[in-house]
Amino acid sequence: SAQPVTIALSGAGGQIGYAALFRIAAGEICGPDTPVNLRLLEIPQGVGAAEGTALELADCAFPLLNSITIDTDPAVVFEGANLALLVGARPRTAGMERSDLLSANGGIFGPQGRALNDHAADDIRVVVVGNPANTNALIAQRNAPDIPTNRFTALTRLDHNRAVGLLAERSGASVSDISGVTVWGNHSLTQYPDLSHAIVNGVPALDAVDPAWARGEYIERVAKRGGEVIQVRGSSSAASAANAAIDHMHDWINGTGADWTSVSLPSDGSYGVPNGLISSFPVRSTGGSWTIVQGLTVDVFSRERIDASVTELLEEHDAVASLGLLPH
Ligand code: NAI
Repeated sequence: SAQPVTIALSGAGGQIGYAALFRIAAGEICGPDTPVNLRLLEIPQGVGAAEGTALELADCAFPLLNSITIDTDPAVVFEGANLALLVGARPRTAGMERSDLLSANGGIFGPQGRALNDHAADDIRVVVVGNPANTNALIAQRNAPDIPTNRFTALTRLDHNRAVGLLAERSGASVSDISGVTVWGNHSLTQYPDLSHAIVNGVPALDAVDPAWARGEYIERVAKRGGEVIQVRGSSSAASAANAAIDHMHDWINGTGADWTSVSLPSDGSYGVPNGLISSFPVRSTGGSWTIVQGLTVDVFSRERIDASVTELLEEHDAVASLGLLPH
């Protein structure tokens, strides 16, 4: 078998952690030949839940699960880590201003970025799931000056998978007959699920479904899907978020194949998104690194939608910069 991979997950005692860890321990990120060392990060209140999950992981007798470490110190958890899934974050509570939310999360993702910088393996790859995911990822990245910037990503794969799933439902096609869907921008209500280049059963999506729906109700439905799940289920998306984080890491390492997917990563200026801003793009991987799909036409409608979401990201950037959370 291959060398073991060391996978760190923060927020391990939470609901996404619970939905993700069993699949990760079963080898769903790197595949059936790679043993897994799990490193679980929690705050003191969450350690008990993480320890309980570790008992259940042991009870699964996963052949690939080499070791489990639980700690509250990012320096310990990230030591030698190859992959990090940063799920734990400070949720917005009643009466909390946006600036309070951003600074509370800066207090988490700044130190975690520094600990990754100082302790992770040279090939570290990071996905931030905890919200506000794009800006938390930016904070971590800008506190880790020795790690190549393109190793920091934020999760927009759940939005992408929702966009594909809802298009399949509307068109009657199966998910495997859909390609070319993109989610642009921020993981927030301003995100833009874009069907301009999508194909359904060999036909352009905008011919396969009502284009007024695709550019109206559909966008809102995808963006508000998280709220719909809360309303119906009584708690927020967990298994689908865990699934998306695993898809993201799996495709980053193993490659995407013919179709592209959506990932928030530091912009190289493509499609007019300012350099360094962590925004969602259409991307492919051939195994190991993401490449932004180039040359897609962006019509006036799409331009406005992308710009609106990027404007929100710039506002979040400016807010955390003025709080001193982006030192590098
Ligand atoms: P949860 O509340 O069930 O679990 C969060 C866990 O993180 C808790 O156990 C908590 O103790 C821990 N935690 C908090 N601060 C921490 C820190 N500094 N270090 C380590 N652990 C810490 O929440 P859930 O449902 O698992 O969601 C986690 C995050 O993921 C939330 O911020 C949520 O908004 C976000 N999310 C993002 C999605 C995306 O598509 N990007 C989708 C769904 C959720």
